[in-house]
Amino acid sequence: MERNETPAAEAAGLCKAFGSGSSRTEVFKDFSFSLPRGAFEAVMGASGSGKSTLLHLLSGFVSADSGTVRVGGQDVTAMSDAAATRFRRRHVGMVFQSYNLVETINVADNVALPVRLDRRKPDMQRLAALLDKLGLAGKERRLPHELSGGERQRVAIARALFAGPDVVFADEPTGNLDAGATRKICDMLRLMHEDGGRTAILLVTHDPVVAAAADRVHVLRDGVVAESFDTRHDPVLVASRYMETEK
Ligand SMILES: Nc1ncnc2c1ncn2[C@@H]1O[C@H](COP(=O)(O)OP(=O)(O)OP(=O)(O)O)[C@@H](O)[C@H]1O
Ligand SMILES: [Mg+2]
Repeated sequence: MERNETPAAEAAGLCKAFGSGSSRTEVFKDFSFSLPRGAFEAVMGASGSGKSTLLHLLSGFVSADSGTVRVGGQDVTAMSDAAATRFRRRHVGMVFQSYNLVETINVADNVALPVRLDRRKPDMQRLAALLDKLGLAGKERRLPHELSGGERQRVAIARALFAGPDVVFADEPTGNLDAGATRKICDMLRLMHEDGGRTAILLVTHDPVVAAAADRVHVLRDGVVAESFDTRHDPVLVASRYMETEK
């Protein structure tokens, strides 16, 4: 990877507070962060440390009070709401703990939806290949309620990746899954990363096993990245480094 390449996502001088007066919560003050192109990194941190808020800010779902967010080098903070929505469909994929699939349409249509909303024609061959890689071959016509939780989440991952975005943000994607389904999601994310080329993945998790699927972990505390370290794909290493930081 070239060193001076444009990052997949970056935040500079970001400030974000919720509420006002005595109920004011300042989550970020002059926060900076950079996710390299094609990287697979994770964010850990105590509940309330701002992990979800960070993903919402980077993806443009929530606007910052000040500072800038760039995705693929483009300043999303300067875009109108409509332009930001259009931009997100092409450049950002999202995976949520609760899957957020459209329950009334089948698997293939769920995956193709962001591309269709962008008024483009989905490449159905590419879609079939993606579902196949995610272990969902033969399930294209199923409705979401006809799938297990793990399968639903793999559909959500396919949907996030299908448009070939700059970055996929995943907020506790295994939060509702058992150990077996979690393992499978981790393996799939690694597989997607290894042959996914230039799409970066930023994953929020409390689980060291899941964080170890990423190459690098950032620990969020008091509105700053308190520490960053390489995982070496070792959950024990991740757990011990994380516990040290949180002492
Ligand atoms: N819409 C909101 N209105 C008011 N306060 C909010 C809002 N969203 C987040 N917060 C506050 O911002 C802080 C960070 O919340 P956030 O959801 O980002 O934490 P988190 O690290 O994702 O926690 P968890 O691990 O529990 O998901 C918390 O103090 C939370 O109460
Ligand atoms: Mg959260």
